Amino acid sequence: MIRRTALLIVVVAIAAACSSADEPAATDAVPAESTQPAPATTAEPSPTTTTAASAATEPAEIEDLLGVGDSLYPTLGNRGYDADHYTIDLTFDPEPNTINALVEIEATATLAIQSFSLDFIGFETTRVTVDDVEVDFERRDNKLIVHSPTVIPAGEAFTVAVAYEGTPTPMRSEALPFTGGWLTDSKGVSYVIAEPDGARTWYPVNDHPTDKATYTFMITVPDPLIAAANGTLVETITDLGWATWVWESAEPMASYLATVIVGDRDIVEDTASTSLAGIPVRNVLPDDLSEASLEVLAKHGEMIAFFETIYGPYPFAAYGIAVVDDFDAALENQTLSIFGRFFVDIPQFFEIVMVHELAHQWFGNSVTPADWGDIWLNEGFATYAEWLWIEHTAGEAAMLSQIAVERDRMAVSALPPPGSPPSDDLFNASVYIRGGLVLHALRVEVGDEAFFAIVREYADTYRNDVVTTNDFITLAESISGQDLDDLFDKWLYGEDVPELPRQGANS
Ligand code: TRP
Ligand code: ZN
Repeated sequence: MIRRTALLIVVVAIAAACSSADEPAATDAVPAESTQPAPATTAEPSPTTTTAASAATEPAEIEDLLGVGDSLYPTLGNRGYDADHYTIDLTFDPEPNTINALVEIEATATLAIQSFSLDFIGFETTRVTVDDVEVDFERRDNKLIVHSPTVIPAGEAFTVAVAYEGTPTPMRSEALPFTGGWLTDSKGVSYVIAEPDGARTWYPVNDHPTDKATYTFMITVPDPLIAAANGTLVETITDLGWATWVWESAEPMASYLATVIVGDRDIVEDTASTSLAGIPVRNVLPDDLSEASLEVLAKHGEMIAFFETIYGPYPFAAYGIAVVDDFDAALENQTLSIFGRFFVDIPQFFEIVMVHELAHQWFGNSVTPADWGDIWLNEGFATYAEWLWIEHTAGEAAMLSQIAVERDRMAVSALPPPGSPPSDDLFNASVYIRGGLVLHALRVEVGDEAFFAIVREYADTYRNDVVTTNDFITLAESISGQDLDDLFDKWLYGEDVPELPRQGANS
């Protein structure tokens, strides 16, 4: 069922690998309005932003808290608090396919709140506490609504804990034509793919990228299965046929990037890449990958070293990929991208998709759009990284002919412009390819020196933070000293795909 995204990324990969000009998969996208989207909500209200009514201790109405105001998915999240740390203590039994979990969320109220929500679907919720006191709760739409007995004043830290159990139910996101969430492949490997809104299928969460948090995962599975999650493996505790794998994500992470992989896999240290990259590179692999695939996989060190010269330091404590079956795509989960075997088995695709998911660690994961409508900031940058890798490994001419082919393909695609993606086809090819072309047009306009200064400064300024398209434009204008409104307007929001600017015209 997930063939369509595969096609989309395959199109990117094929084009990258051999400059073919296939149609993008997502040609049936609904054209979006050609106007610019409403300005993104950059952050939740700060603790000082209380309304007159709530200035005392009057709590905000639950209805006013639902949704942080995303332009495409307005119901995601809750604006009344800010999650700081999640501790996900989860036991997974693959045989009946059940989860039994206790998730503890350390949060800070951003408004005076009493009833508030978490995004959460499926399972039976057995107990909810606020600051260790058992409280009432109810399920409404895709939310778990928690009723605190007392008002939590704005600015106050509190802890909400949710115990639940049951069989995970994958869900169909409005954004994508297939099912995501906690999935199990035909080889019995379970894994999470959640972008953009599948996190709620496995843990209660304030599910919007504006609310990043740190995470501790304590995943208990039957011995000898392994359980991997984002970040660094702290310890493994075995007890009577079960093992608890404790993973720590010390850098803030958007909820859609949290992942777990459970199954018959090996956690394999890539020592050569580790020493080249300067951070641990470890992969979660089946034992039957081909020599050719393993040879490509070993390029992570070289790739990280190369992109550090362009983007600045790799933003997290570790990197690697997990390989699963029956998944015809790849996803950039923080510090641990997930790859379907589909890509891994075709060395040419594998290399370029490795570059793509790695680049997302800087762009998407560390620097994260504050609004899903700005998704081109993820996919355009990751696609441009592919082209930079082609320039690095095959030369400038190879990159330029690739880009010319991509521009012409976009020109006949009838896809919406990348700055206005439709909510029901968020990851359409325009967001990727024309998103990448936006950056190429910028590079030609401002010249290499200013362009690479912009990209580096962008990665540094917004490291571990959220960002809007306007933030990027403002930064590009200030570093280049040029007025770039026209360029961004036509490339990001114009109906027609502009002609590529002539290389060298400005540099
Ligand atoms: N961000 C993914 C990429 O690297 C695309 C994607 C979004 C995706 N949501 C997904 C892939 C869900 C698989 C499943 O391009
Ligand atoms: Zn991507």
